[in-house]
Amino acid sequence: MGKRIIAPSLLAADFANLQRDIEMVNESEADWFHLDIMDGLFVPNISFGMPVVKAIAKHAKKTLDVHLMIVDPDRYIQEFADLGANVLTVHYEVCNHLHRTVHAIKAAGMKAGVAITPHTSVQLLEDIIQDLDLVCVMSVNPGFGGQSFIENTYAKVKALKKLIEDKNTDTLIEIDGGVNATNAKKLVEAGADVLVAGSFVFKSDDPISTIADLKKEIV
Ligand code: DX5
Ligand code: ZN
Repeated sequence: MGKRIIAPSLLAADFANLQRDIEMVNESEADWFHLDIMDGLFVPNISFGMPVVKAIAKHAKKTLDVHLMIVDPDRYIQEFADLGANVLTVHYEVCNHLHRTVHAIKAAGMKAGVAITPHTSVQLLEDIIQDLDLVCVMSVNPGFGGQSFIENTYAKVKALKKLIEDKNTDTLIEIDGGVNATNAKKLVEAGADVLVAGSFVFKSDDPISTIADLKKEIV
């Protein structure tokens, strides 16, 4: 997987014009599609499920980065693989046997990611980091788009980068929540590889040039 990646989150797209918004991302300089799956249990919101992922996969021409904000994600690993997910990320906070879950994701042919909420310490990943393709550092409390970026994220990214270097792995660091042109560069300087951006892209007047601007910030 390459580095310095922009992943627009379709959570902020216009669901009544989803194909149009997917084509926009296809044509843009974005690298991945970020798909947020919420169950109304782990997080206080429900987003969209399998039929919508299937419809997205039909049109999306870039890596599908699926972020599961659901309890007991093991139930759906094979289904997301079959739907075409390339990266599958589960939350640290809901996995009792994270090592087993991560290896089940890989056995299903996907890259394995683990997301941590703002209160979860990166040090808790010390004994799993070597198995991870990606760590998603949540820079807002998961559940909603359009929230403000939590400043403590920079310190977490630096600590995670150090852990990755110490363990000599090539795990990608993804940042999710409140990403915009003001914090993008600083996040990459702290060690981030993948920036998820929802509202900042889709609520802008010209999403294609917003993505291009974000990309310029991080090269
Ligand atoms: C939040 C989601 C994010 C969200 C980001 O729970 O995981 O991916 O869509 O949206 P913005 O960029 O608007 O914070
Ligand atoms: Zn997300």
